[in-house]
Amino acid sequence: MRLLKRRQLFLKLTVIVGSLSIFFLLSHPKAVWDPTYVFRYSWLEYTDADGGSERVCNCSAILRGEREAVDQAKILSISKDFLKNALIPDEYYINATQDCRVFKQSRKYLTFPLSQEEEDFPLAYSMVVHHKVQNFERLLRAIYTPQNYYCIHVDKKSDASVLSAVNAIISCFPNVFMVSKSVSVVYAGWPRVQADLNCMADLIEMSTKWKYFINLCGQDFPLKTNLEIVRMLRSMGGGNSLESEQMAEGKKWRFSHVHKIVDGNIKWSGEAKTPPPFNLPILSGNAYIVVNRGYIHSVLKDKRILALIEWAKDTYSPDEFLWATIQRIPGVPGSTWPNEKYDTSDINAIARLVKWQWHEGSEGSLQAVYPKCQGNHVRSICVYGAGDLQWLLLNRHLFANKFDADTDPIAIYCLEKYLRQKALAELRYQH
Ligand SMILES: *[C@@H]1O[C@H](CO)[C@@H](O)[C@H](O)[C@H]1NC(C)=O
Ligand SMILES: *[C@@H]1O[C@H](CO)[C@@H](O)[C@H](O)[C@H]1NC(C)=O
Repeated sequence: MRLLKRRQLFLKLTVIVGSLSIFFLLSHPKAVWDPTYVFRYSWLEYTDADGGSERVCNCSAILRGEREAVDQAKILSISKDFLKNALIPDEYYINATQDCRVFKQSRKYLTFPLSQEEEDFPLAYSMVVHHKVQNFERLLRAIYTPQNYYCIHVDKKSDASVLSAVNAIISCFPNVFMVSKSVSVVYAGWPRVQADLNCMADLIEMSTKWKYFINLCGQDFPLKTNLEIVRMLRSMGGGNSLESEQMAEGKKWRFSHVHKIVDGNIKWSGEAKTPPPFNLPILSGNAYIVVNRGYIHSVLKDKRILALIEWAKDTYSPDEFLWATIQRIPGVPGSTWPNEKYDTSDINAIARLVKWQWHEGSEGSLQAVYPKCQGNHVRSICVYGAGDLQWLLLNRHLFANKFDADTDPIAIYCLEKYLRQKALAELRYQH
């Protein structure tokens, strides 16, 4: 409660400051660089006061990888009191969104496109969420701009409190909407793909303007500003960026035999499956993709792909081969040939940066792909700690996974501050 009171008081203060700055913004409509810049946009900068208990950390030292600051962050992140005070409860969102204008201002959502270049290149996001509303809201806040489109899929099994908090947040933004059909997601099962397919269909329907599609889950976080994302996508010349490699023999059981969902779990049935339609070569990848609009159009309309989708519905972990396979089908916009010379690993694609436990190690080791996780592991995947940030930002990837405000709020806090600062600096250079 004390936390909520403090946030509410703070919210009032920021609204006052924010309104003053908006007044200045409106009274200086011409976007020319001038010394009032700092005053005009500084209300969009995240300050220490925006954070919870994380504000004691020195983010610039953490981003430089300074030992002392990283160690301090690590000690804090194992303190129960610290974690509790950093948490934003679901009720906060339900309450705070009752006045959307105040919510957007106090949480410092961008309310205008930061550049013409970004405005001319809208993006479409599919976001699949099942719990931890705070992670979702901070992710949304980090990628939110008024010209993009955001389709949110909340798992059908989610707690009612999650659904109402997400609905409350969504209700504040005309370009953020709930998927028209939600499904109950099963680990490694078809519904995970269906959730994205439903958002894809809604997004295509929603607007003819967006150029690229990116799918996310609640535990992703961006490593780049919207302008950087737009520039990287434009530089791809219509291409797509996702993991797509030859399928290892040891994984072929996943689609050589029928799998069925029984009581919310996926089960192997001894029954053999027919080969894929049109003898399409099945490639290996992951669930997260960065693809152009034409790719999504093909997913929804191309007869070969519609047959592939039907065929894939009773396989194991179709999310880890479907997008990768479509990326190698001739005629799909931005696709490449199935030959292994076009294979792209997760490290070489820009869609998602993930640290798998078994690939961690020291530099110079032939087995290691990246340095050791500085946070903790969940199902062999690193949940990033503050000590991972310096390395994360050296990579070209647009997004990284996993982040969790419940177990390491400092990593998210420093990253969101860094990105906002960078976005405002870019804005300053343009004018
Ligand atoms: C934070 O770290 C930076 C970089 O080491 C340092 O220059 C700065 O003085 C520190 N700030 C505080 C408040 O300790
Ligand atoms: C939500 O706001 C109302 C008034 O706006 C207040 O009475 C109530 O205590 C708040 N709830 C929480 C959980 O803060």
